[in-house]
Amino acid sequence: MKQKGSSDNTFIPLTMNNTVGDLYKTPVGHDTLLKVLLQIGISEKAVTNPAVSSMKLSTVAKLAEKTAHIDPHFFETLLFLINMEHDTPTTEHGPVKPAWWKEAVFYQIYPRSFCDKNGDGMGDLEGIISKLDYLKDLGVDALWLSPIYDSPNDDNGYDIRDYRKIQEQFGTMEDFDRLLEGVHARGMKLIMDLVVNHTSDEHEWFQKALSDPDSPCRDYYFLVPEGQRTDGSPCDPELPPNNWTSFFSGSAWNHYKEQGLWGLHLFSKKQMDLNWDNPALRKEVIDMIRWWLEKGVDGFRMDVINYISKTPGLPEGNEAVGSLMNFTGVEHYYYGPHLHEYLHQIYTEAFEPYGAFSVGETPGAGMEMSKLLTSEKRGEMNMVFSFDQLETPGHIRYHDYKYDLNYYRDYITDWMLNYGSDCWMSLFYNNHDNPRMVSKVSTNPAHRQAIEKLLAMMQFTLRGTPFVFQGDEMGLTNYDFTSIDQVQDVEAVNYYDELLFSHTEAEALGIIRAGTRDHARVMLPWDDQPQAVAGSTSAKPLTHQEIDPEITAFYRRLIRFRKRHHALIYGDFQPLCLKKDHFTYRRTLGDETYIIECNLSDKPVKSYLDKQALRLIICTHRGKHSGKTLLPYEARLFRLQ
Ligand code: NOJ
Repeated sequence: MKQKGSSDNTFIPLTMNNTVGDLYKTPVGHDTLLKVLLQIGISEKAVTNPAVSSMKLSTVAKLAEKTAHIDPHFFETLLFLINMEHDTPTTEHGPVKPAWWKEAVFYQIYPRSFCDKNGDGMGDLEGIISKLDYLKDLGVDALWLSPIYDSPNDDNGYDIRDYRKIQEQFGTMEDFDRLLEGVHARGMKLIMDLVVNHTSDEHEWFQKALSDPDSPCRDYYFLVPEGQRTDGSPCDPELPPNNWTSFFSGSAWNHYKEQGLWGLHLFSKKQMDLNWDNPALRKEVIDMIRWWLEKGVDGFRMDVINYISKTPGLPEGNEAVGSLMNFTGVEHYYYGPHLHEYLHQIYTEAFEPYGAFSVGETPGAGMEMSKLLTSEKRGEMNMVFSFDQLETPGHIRYHDYKYDLNYYRDYITDWMLNYGSDCWMSLFYNNHDNPRMVSKVSTNPAHRQAIEKLLAMMQFTLRGTPFVFQGDEMGLTNYDFTSIDQVQDVEAVNYYDELLFSHTEAEALGIIRAGTRDHARVMLPWDDQPQAVAGSTSAKPLTHQEIDPEITAFYRRLIRFRKRHHALIYGDFQPLCLKKDHFTYRRTLGDETYIIECNLSDKPVKSYLDKQALRLIICTHRGKHSGKTLLPYEARLFRLQ
């Protein structure tokens, strides 16, 4: 049967008469089903098993309604999403086209907590400038700066008030110019954060939109008159226009009573979603991007960029999808109808003319959708951050559980083998939105160093571009938050309040401690000052962490080695041993071959490698290892002689 993406480009939409297997063959069906299974902690086999994959969707819908009370509209929603994507990704297996960003090691700086030069308890541009030599020496090739633009800081700068101004706490535009010059003088590159799904409610556009019904800016946002639902039907003026919920708790709509309007904000009440369907808004954004590229920045990390296109009319979110994914309405914007078109427009009108680099933050996009977003033939983005490696099946960030690295091995092996040679992946475990991976794997201090080295070993020897998050190279772990007033993050603070309706304070704090983004936002321990989340006014300092020089040295060594040996960058990837707790793989380019052997567990495991023809190059347990046994979390890099 011919379905989507057939060679003559005939697109035949799926219907309820199609099977689960047909649905799984489509990029959106594949990634969405996997995401749902991941969320509920069920293996992919539940879909690929022939008994299920041959079932008609109409039968599954009836069964799901009977047994799990899943509203049949759930399947209609799924079909609607699937049928919007008319393209099918291909998986190329040819040689990889070289590019600087494929060879580079990126380092993410969260400016608020990186380095404070003026002593106000908050990082600044001067602080970053003072560490450029350190970063160069570490082997870093490119910096990604989280937002440094003018902002009221409701979400630490991800709520931008003025895209062309530097936030006062960080410094001035002259400081920025010196920073950029310093980066380039050292042969490094700098990418900025592009936050254009939303602006601050204090942005001039929003202020105009709110105050003047005739302003062209009114249509830059989603503002709906009170007393009206998004479908035009009347409703109580006190009720929001649809049932979408915000990622930061509560409804996704804010009521502007004075103006008689409701405004859409997927994130905080001060982060107002932009209406990308308006061509004038798109032009404003593209002009702004070009303005920074003209200044000499080398590219952008694009914040929640897959959310920019919303289903026209902003229909009600499906409640079953909402309770499954924790956010209602998400199916109407996580892979919207014009996403490819808008990305291609940014690419052709801004990125391409400047040869600029782009990496998109794309929550919810799995491998097949990511192929359509990053394939070199398509001209959309160079890379994406896909997030499904960050939690194991059945878990979300706020769960307190032990991360099983066997899951990471299977996840990454799948991407290594199937992402294709015209797509390139980003390799990361940490960023400013997540607790540190080392602490998720184990909180046993005896294993900390080994796990950190093991993670680094995989990050610098797998195929893709490593993104180091500030402090990874220092051996930092999570913090023991003992009071909610040590926490600053708007997401966690709102969530804590929500939790208090159903939990005790101690329970709520426990949940926040497991998942708050503030683990990654504590000031880096460059000196022995008491530590706190940047900007915190809490009287209770956190336990001070020390920089571990052994971890820094290990990073330096691995990065240097990777740079000199392109087999670790462009080489083929081949898994050699994927038994429980083992991850052994080969990287080959021309006549150079490396073998990496890892123990993913806290117990010693037997090594299966015949070491005769192998030369040990780097090992996590230098001087402590035994040939036949891999110590807990041990990793070794060998060269084939
Ligand atoms: C993703 C960013 O990484 C996160 O920090 C921010 O809160 C949201 N996008 C909203 O901009």
